[in-house]
Amino acid sequence: MRKVRKEKVLLPEPRPTVLKIKRRAMTLILRESRIHSCGCYTTAPIRKGTRVVEYVGERLSNDQADDLYDDVPITYLFGLNSGKHVVDGYGVAAFINHSCRPNCETDIIGGRIWIIARRDIERGEELTYDYNLFDGEEDAPCLCRAPRCRGSMYSAAHLRKMTRARAKAARGPISPLSGATIGSF
Ligand SMILES: C[S@@+](CC[C@H](N)C(=O)[O-])C[C@H]1O[C@@H](n2cnc3c(N)ncnc32)[C@H](O)[C@@H]1O
Ligand SMILES: [Zn+2]
Repeated sequence: MRKVRKEKVLLPEPRPTVLKIKRRAMTLILRESRIHSCGCYTTAPIRKGTRVVEYVGERLSNDQADDLYDDVPITYLFGLNSGKHVVDGYGVAAFINHSCRPNCETDIIGGRIWIIARRDIERGEELTYDYNLFDGEEDAPCLCRAPRCRGSMYSAAHLRKMTRARAKAARGPISPLSGATIGSF
């Protein structure tokens, strides 16, 4: 039988796949805010659902935070585990102001705090999220200027709780015998 030389089929060299990913650099800057002092702004558009920035900082117990920030009006604390721990922020995320109609929200993913776009955000917009403060007795007035601003950085639930506590305090203590309010007549 004739030996037929098999024609060598030259296969093209495998070429590395070059994925052309068009990425617009997202840059966050800090500058003066109409809401409060300094705010965080984006220099590029951000798509809804994007993890914009991580809220980084030192993790403290509540007692440590109380010792550090007792009587300090501005804090950079982010509450975790229903307030059992806090993160004392030091990155740009710590400068994001509160709004009652925010363009971002927060989520804890794998133990890390992320600021996430809750809608498409335009270039030049200030980033905001709802602080929903849940701890404290002093007023925390909100200056966000949103059409339906609730007037406070506290959550609606905490505001109801404060209103009930203040109403109870105004009524005075209840007599254990009669159930009547003890007052001066
Ligand atoms: C984490 S700092 C935000 C950055 C702050 N603007 C700054 O320049 O340091 C949080 C503090 O900012 C102020 N703040 C943020 N959002 C506010 C708002 N909507 N209304 C009033 N004060 C606000 C409050 O004093 C709050 O305790
Ligand atoms: Zn507001």
